[in-house]
Amino acid sequence: MFALLFLSFCLLASCEKPFIATNFGPIVGFQHKSPSSDDVFNVFLGIRYARPPDHIFRFQKPDPVEKWGPVQHDATHFRASCIPSLRSELEDDVNYSEDCLFLNIVTPNNYKGRKLPVLMFVHGGGFQYGNAMEFGYEKAAEHFVSQDIIFVSVQYRLGPLGFFTTGDGEIPGNMGLWDLTTALYFLHEVLPDFGGDPEKITVAGQSAGSAAVSALLYSPHSDHLFLQAIQMSGSIFAENSISENVVEDSKALAKAAGCSETESKALRACMEERTIDEILDAMEQIGELLPGPRNKKFHPRMDNDYFPYDLEKMSRKAPKKRTMQGLLSLESGNAVCYPTKLWKLLGVPKESWGSYGRENFEDFIRDQVAVEKDFGRKTSAFYQLVRDFYLRGVSTNANSSAYLRAYAELLGDLQYGIPSLHEIDLKRQHDWPTFFYVIDYESETTRDPAHPIRGAFHASELRFLFNFRGLERIPFDENDKLFERHLVNAFANFVKTGDPSTTEFVWTPISNEQPFLNALLNPHPKLEDSFRRDAYDLWQTEIPRVTGAELLKKRLPAARATFQHTEL
Ligand SMILES: *[C@@H]1O[C@H](CO)[C@@H](O)[C@H](O)[C@H]1NC(C)=O
Ligand SMILES: *[C@@H]1O[C@H](CO)[C@@H](O)[C@H](O)[C@H]1NC(C)=O
Repeated sequence: MFALLFLSFCLLASCEKPFIATNFGPIVGFQHKSPSSDDVFNVFLGIRYARPPDHIFRFQKPDPVEKWGPVQHDATHFRASCIPSLRSELEDDVNYSEDCLFLNIVTPNNYKGRKLPVLMFVHGGGFQYGNAMEFGYEKAAEHFVSQDIIFVSVQYRLGPLGFFTTGDGEIPGNMGLWDLTTALYFLHEVLPDFGGDPEKITVAGQSAGSAAVSALLYSPHSDHLFLQAIQMSGSIFAENSISENVVEDSKALAKAAGCSETESKALRACMEERTIDEILDAMEQIGELLPGPRNKKFHPRMDNDYFPYDLEKMSRKAPKKRTMQGLLSLESGNAVCYPTKLWKLLGVPKESWGSYGRENFEDFIRDQVAVEKDFGRKTSAFYQLVRDFYLRGVSTNANSSAYLRAYAELLGDLQYGIPSLHEIDLKRQHDWPTFFYVIDYESETTRDPAHPIRGAFHASELRFLFNFRGLERIPFDENDKLFERHLVNAFANFVKTGDPSTTEFVWTPISNEQPFLNALLNPHPKLEDSFRRDAYDLWQTEIPRVTGAELLKKRLPAARATFQHTEL
C-alpha cells in the first residue's frame, strides 16, 4: 500500500520523466501507471516525424523532420489533428492544424536495450477526418504494451490537404500515403532507442486506415518498411478508397476557391496561396459526401508514382508478408442505423426506417450502382443481377427491415466486403500467409433496441481494442470480456509471432483448399468458410460476364481482370 501511494505521488509530481536520446535529438515523455495492475508505461505523445507541410509544402510529399537537438522535444501531450474536409467534422476540444504530422509511442517501463515487436496503428475516418488522439494510449498500453509490444499511432494528411491533385505530375495527389511512408522511415531511425525492433513492425489500420495499409503493402515505396500487417475492414480495392474521379473533384474545389487556372503550375500556385478557411469555404460549396458507394471525394488515386502500375500487378510484385485481414458481419449497418456524418448521404433517416421498401432499394441500385451513364446498354442486365441477388429470399410482403438489410448488405459488399475478399484471394494466389477473420459479435451493452437491423457494424470492434470515443467506458458484460480477450490476444500474438493462435483458439490460415477459411470471432470463436461466398461469385463472375471486368472496375476496383497475366 505504501509503495503504491508513493508511486502515485511520484507520478503526480512527475519525478519520473522518461527521456530518450535519438539521432534527431532528445525526447521527453511521461509515465502512465495502469489503473488495474502495477504496470508502468512510458508514453511519448506528439513526436514530430516530418517537416510541417504548410505554406509552399502544402501539396508536396513530406520532407523528413530536421534534427531538433540539443533542444528537448516535449512529447507529453497529443498534438493538433490534421484538418478534416468539412467544418462540420471539426470536433470540440480537438486542436487542428496543417502542422499535424506527429506520431505517438508507448513502451514498457523496461525498454532499454530490448528489441521488441512494434504495432503501428493507422486511424480511419474515410480519409477525411479522424486523428490518433481518439485512440488514446491507456488501453493500447494495457492490451499490447503490457505484452511487450511497442505501440505507435500515427497521423497523416486528410481530405483535400491529403489527396488534392491536378491529375498530372504537378500535384499527383496521395500526400497522405507519402506521410505514412515517411513515418515508417522515421520509426526505422528511432525505434532502437525506444527498445523497438525496426525489423518487426506490424502495420495495422481500420477502415480507411486499412485501405492505407493495403497501399503500404503493395507500393514499392513502402513495401519494404515493415514485416506484416493487420487490415481491419478496409481495402484499397474499393471505390471509396481509390478513384480517378478525385481529379475532377479537385478541379471543382479549386474553382470554388477562386483558382480557375487551367494550367497545373498556375493552379498549384493559386491553391498554395489559399488560407485553410478559404479551402474549407470552397469544400462547403462543393460538398464532400456523395450518395453512392464512393461516398466521398478526396482519397487515393492511381498516380504513376506511389502506385506505379495497376494494383494487381503491384500485389504480385510486392514482397510476401504475413497478414491478418478481416470484416464485420454487417459493415454498412452503420449507414442505416447511424445516418450521421460520414454516412449522411448514404444513411436512411430515422423517420424513414419504417417506410423503407422495395422501391427505395431499387432506386438506390439504379441511381448509384448500375448507373446508366457508366454502364450504357449493359445497365439493365447488371441491375437485374444485383436486385435479384440482394432480394433473394425477401418475400413480396416483407417489412422495411428486410429491405434495409438488403441495402446494408449491398453497400457493405461494395465498400468493404468484395474488395477485402479480392485482396485475400490475391494474397492466396501469391502465397502470402493470411489469417482471415469475420467478427459477428454485436454487444448487448451498446446495442440500440430501436435499430431496425442487427449485426456487427463497421468500427464496433474498436471499443474492445483501444480507448475509442469514450465507448470503452461503457461497462463490459461477460460476453464483451470474452470477445475482448480473444480479439486482443489474437492481435498481440500475431504481432509477436506472426500467428494469431492462442491457447484457447487455434487459427488456420487460408489455403488453396480453403481459400476463404476464416475465424468467426465472437465470445466463442470457431472456423468457418462460407462468409459472403455467393456475393463474391456474383461480383467476380456473374456481373463481369454481363458488364465486362474493365467497366465494372469503375464501381468496384476489385473486379477481377478477365485475363490472367502471365508475365512476372
Ligand atoms: C489545444 O491547444 C492548447 C494551446 O496550445 C492547449 O492548451 C490544449 O491542451 C490543446 N488541446 C488538446 C485537446 O490538445
Ligand atoms: C419485420 O419482420 C421481422 C420478422 O419477419 C420481425 O422480426 C421484425 O420485427 C419486423 N420489423 C418491423 C419494423 O416491423
